[in-house]
Amino acid sequence: MKTTDVRRDMPLLDKVIYLDAASTTPTPKPVIESMNNYFYNYNANTGRGAYRMAIRATQELELARKKIAKFVNSDPQEIIFTKNATESINIVVRGIKWNKGDKIIVSNMEHHSNLVPWLNLQDQGVEIKIIKADENGVIDPGEVEKTLDDHTRLVTITHINNSIGSVQPVNEISKILEDQNVFYLVDAAQSAGHINIDLKKLKADFVAFPGHKGLLGPVGTGFLYYARDSYAELNPLNLGGSTVENVTQKNFELTESPACFEAGTQNIAGYIGLGSATNYVGRIGMSKIERHSKKMTKIMYQEIQDIENAHVYGSPENIYGIVSFNIDNINPHDLAKILDEIKFICVRSGFHCAMPSLRHMGAYQLGGTVRASIHYYNTREEIEILCETLQDVSKLIET
Ligand code: ALA
Repeated sequence: MKTTDVRRDMPLLDKVIYLDAASTTPTPKPVIESMNNYFYNYNANTGRGAYRMAIRATQELELARKKIAKFVNSDPQEIIFTKNATESINIVVRGIKWNKGDKIIVSNMEHHSNLVPWLNLQDQGVEIKIIKADENGVIDPGEVEKTLDDHTRLVTITHINNSIGSVQPVNEISKILEDQNVFYLVDAAQSAGHINIDLKKLKADFVAFPGHKGLLGPVGTGFLYYARDSYAELNPLNLGGSTVENVTQKNFELTESPACFEAGTQNIAGYIGLGSATNYVGRIGMSKIERHSKKMTKIMYQEIQDIENAHVYGSPENIYGIVSFNIDNINPHDLAKILDEIKFICVRSGFHCAMPSLRHMGAYQLGGTVRASIHYYNTREEIEILCETLQDVSKLIET
């Protein structure tokens, strides 16, 4: 599939220049159609009814789980449906029994979703050790190695940082942790569907995925990969229907994963849509997506950097899919509004739910940054329009 084919499946791209893939992405028509098919033809609950329509709904949901598992090279039983990457992370944070004195290693480049839930554990006497990135927002795996000790129970890191797009050495960290009795959680919020993720190679205990960003699934979907061979024991975040094998008036027996983590009626249509979205991304091809995004990221970085009065964050060698910048003497939100109002350009502005990372990059006191983020559907022309408009705005401010 070419970029033009994908754009045909996303009519809203004719109306705006959409450069906010890091927030969410447009849902392609075949994904919407797969959800409509559920609503029109077999809109029943799953895992409950004995009638044929309910059985079909259950089968389609489990088929979606299989498609997703295949896409990330895991087993279907390792895929727990969630509403987003944030919920996936919270399942781990709240699911492990922590002891006073346990240590968790996390970086200063995390989205709040992979920081705040950990910080909250400090009330239980858990120590949160924050390792610092270099001046380009990249974590040195050696820092992780140095920080490990006998009290460390978990290391977590984002694969691609959401505020400036720096790619973190998740595979190198995985190697360091291989022989350690330490759990490893990777936040794939900005990498899933953008970079090929092979879970058998990554060897993490947990990986948090959103459905609605790079994977082109609908909003309200995500999943948690929970490795079958992990020693981590997780208690479900929610209990209720579908999570139990047997219940008496006094007690209950939990059923196996993933069902024990999926309490109550699920976002059935959404997950069926997510399954169809992974097929869609697979049809484009991950290597094509990577080639396209690498090229576009480099062009965008370079052209924005060439604008007088512009400052781009991170190193062009290391960032992927996201370019974060400021223009002197203009607040990021004002700049984003101007881009929208004069050229219908949609970018995110501000702190991107990652304040510590922007403090580290020196952008906090500027009110954050403007962030342009791309996917396979973005064209060279769109990047040109962004850069030309920024050039014009920058000149106006100068005069
Ligand atoms: N996590 C999303 C972002 O970075 C919403 O914009």
